[in-house]
Amino acid sequence: MSMRRTTVQAALKGVGSGAEARVMGWVRTRRDAKGFSFLEINDGSCLTNLQVIVDAGVQGADVLKDLGTGAAVAVTGELVPSPGKGQRFELRATGLELLGAADPEAYPLQKKRHSDEFLRTIAHLRPRTNKYGAMLRLRSALGQAVHAFFAARGFAWVQTPIITGSDCEGAGEMFRVTALSDAEACLPPGERAARDFFGKDAYLTVSGQLSAEPLALALGQVYTFGPTFRAEHSDTSRHAAEFWMLEPEMAFADLDDDMDLGEALLKHLVGVAVNDCAEDFGLFVKYVDPSLPETLGAILEQPFVRLPYAEAVDILSRAEAKFQFPVGFGCDLQSEHERYLTEKHFKRPVVVYDYPKEIKAFYMRQNDDGQTVAAMDVLVPGIGEIIGGSAREERLDVLTARIRELSLPMESYWWYLDTRRFGTVPHAGFGLGFERLVMLVTGIGNIRDVMAFARTWRHLEF
Ligand code: 4AD
Ligand code: MG
Repeated sequence: MSMRRTTVQAALKGVGSGAEARVMGWVRTRRDAKGFSFLEINDGSCLTNLQVIVDAGVQGADVLKDLGTGAAVAVTGELVPSPGKGQRFELRATGLELLGAADPEAYPLQKKRHSDEFLRTIAHLRPRTNKYGAMLRLRSALGQAVHAFFAARGFAWVQTPIITGSDCEGAGEMFRVTALSDAEACLPPGERAARDFFGKDAYLTVSGQLSAEPLALALGQVYTFGPTFRAEHSDTSRHAAEFWMLEPEMAFADLDDDMDLGEALLKHLVGVAVNDCAEDFGLFVKYVDPSLPETLGAILEQPFVRLPYAEAVDILSRAEAKFQFPVGFGCDLQSEHERYLTEKHFKRPVVVYDYPKEIKAFYMRQNDDGQTVAAMDVLVPGIGEIIGGSAREERLDVLTARIRELSLPMESYWWYLDTRRFGTVPHAGFGLGFERLVMLVTGIGNIRDVMAFARTWRHLEF
């Protein structure tokens, strides 16, 4: 192992050509010819395989007969310009070493297309397929692009807690966190909570927002990016029990600033996928959704539609389409409505704003009409809601009145209310669902297939 490893990505560019190179990876295919064999090797560094030519006489060639799809090998040799089409360099082996065999009879990934459903049952092996490798590399690039985007705009990256005592969204979809034994867990609620680790009920957070706000009201512009948890029993293709959320929060900002930031962020991230990840992105255009360039082109090139909720309801009630759920002022928009607006009516992203306060969270800033709040949702084709955000209620009296109106536990919000008591300022923020972003740029239709190990209703394997 002593010689430095050349990645397949580097080898394909000819890095280290002319000297001896050593490549390690997993065999995708083996083809035998008279006196030599071709191996296609992939090491996850990029989508394309490296072609290796192994003459029957080279050192270690005796392992060839055992090399099937999935076996791990180390190959030493010389990188030479390839006569074959589609690849610039190939490796002429001088030595071959079997690192880990894979019994071809038992290895579940064979050189054919497997269904998404089947691959979910082998989530520990599916990263070795082209599609999931490409998805994971894209996901990584997008995560790094998030940090670059905010760094360039002077936002501080903050880390908000995962264990929390409060339900940010008030939807009652929280997982409880406990250190109690089974016997202690059966105590009456008050006693049980007092006996538990924190001396009170604790949950996994549904959003970092309530912690991000005090930080924005100190640092000006912040974002938190991490896992969030929702015990949603809905078994849909767009909901996971554990997902990553990116949440920027800005002091001295209103709803327009919030919408501007959301639009700029989405355009930036889509641009990174299309332009900086061309090879992996190309796989999705070719095999998953050929209309991706058009859909994403519309996101990159056109301004997003900005549509008051009341007008959205108007458009939907006049629509020819048959909806399963009712439409009317005061009804929450369902995914079928969201998708109608962005896919059929406008054919580009739509930012719906000024929602009725009854269907939105307690912290959203009330508008002067007494009916609506300064909320906004960004809707995109194929997904529906990808961003949800708002201006925050910065007026102490209005906020406490709303908390009282909703019978939320005022005492537990004392610290949150303090930020309105001392030097309160207008501020705004939003949450972007990171998996939904990966779905958008890959065309993958199910959230279970844009995360390495998905946690969804009734699924906790791997
Ligand atoms: O609209 P949501 O519920 O907003 C909040 O949680 C705010 N506190 C965010 C903020 O203002 N800082 O969630 C934000 C986004 C949604 O638009 C959606 O993209 C994603 O998070 N999301 C989910 N993604 C996957 N699985 C789920 N169960 C999700 N629930 C929300
Ligand atoms: Mg929402």
